[in-house]
Amino acid sequence: MHVRRKLIVGNWKMNGGIAALGEVAAVAEAARGAAGAEVAICPPFTLLAAAVTRAGGLVAIGGQDCHWDDSGAHTGSVSAAMLREAGARLVIVGHSERRAEQGETDSLVRSKAERALAYGLQAIVCVGESEAERQAGRAAERVSGQLAGSLPDPGGEGELVVAYEPIWAIGTGRTATPADVAGIHSAIRRSLLDRFGDSGGRIRILYGGSVNSGNAAELFAVPDVDGALVGGASLTAAQFVPIVEAAAHS
Ligand code: 13P
Repeated sequence: MHVRRKLIVGNWKMNGGIAALGEVAAVAEAARGAAGAEVAICPPFTLLAAAVTRAGGLVAIGGQDCHWDDSGAHTGSVSAAMLREAGARLVIVGHSERRAEQGETDSLVRSKAERALAYGLQAIVCVGESEAERQAGRAAERVSGQLAGSLPDPGGEGELVVAYEPIWAIGTGRTATPADVAGIHSAIRRSLLDRFGDSGGRIRILYGGSVNSGNAAELFAVPDVDGALVGGASLTAAQFVPIVEAAAHS
């Protein structure tokens, strides 16, 4: 039985300017008293280096994406190497918004995760079914296909983390029920153990999709929920800190 410390990651998406850096400082201050959980914030790239300074080592700062290559002719992209140099400790890859808006495939996501691990970053690989797939009873099948295609083989210095984010629960206020989450997270755990053996028991599985201070504690009580990937409620310390505290005390 592996002990997995809860990991709470705020994904700011395309939100936040210089004024939002005060929220990073406030979360860092609160994280000092919440040693039971690990806390990270992924702001837009423009704020990354400044956020690292404001986080004071108390909150890890990460990117929301990285390229599969280290450098070169890839206009508009940022590499895992660049993130690492800017002070990032993690990166989200394969978020459903990028899969939908940028057409990212499982194999592309896998290449990005490989580069992130090679540069010693935590690679948070996102999976999750659409509303139509859920209605058709195909959620588990969809997620297992994404895991098979998007997760890299072990390697590098970084840590692999999986985030289950059902698309229908993102930004909608509709959270999956603890029973739904329990079913999918245990299926994810089984596939991790099948593929990686005993070390699959050490991989953290985060839940994401309308997590807030009101539902965090019951989600964290579900077996194999090792933390959360939080969108809207991570934008202010006032909403994010109670989620961090729920994790620290779970
Ligand atoms: P919300 O918490 O706003 O639903 O977003 C979840 C998400 O997509 C985090 O990556």
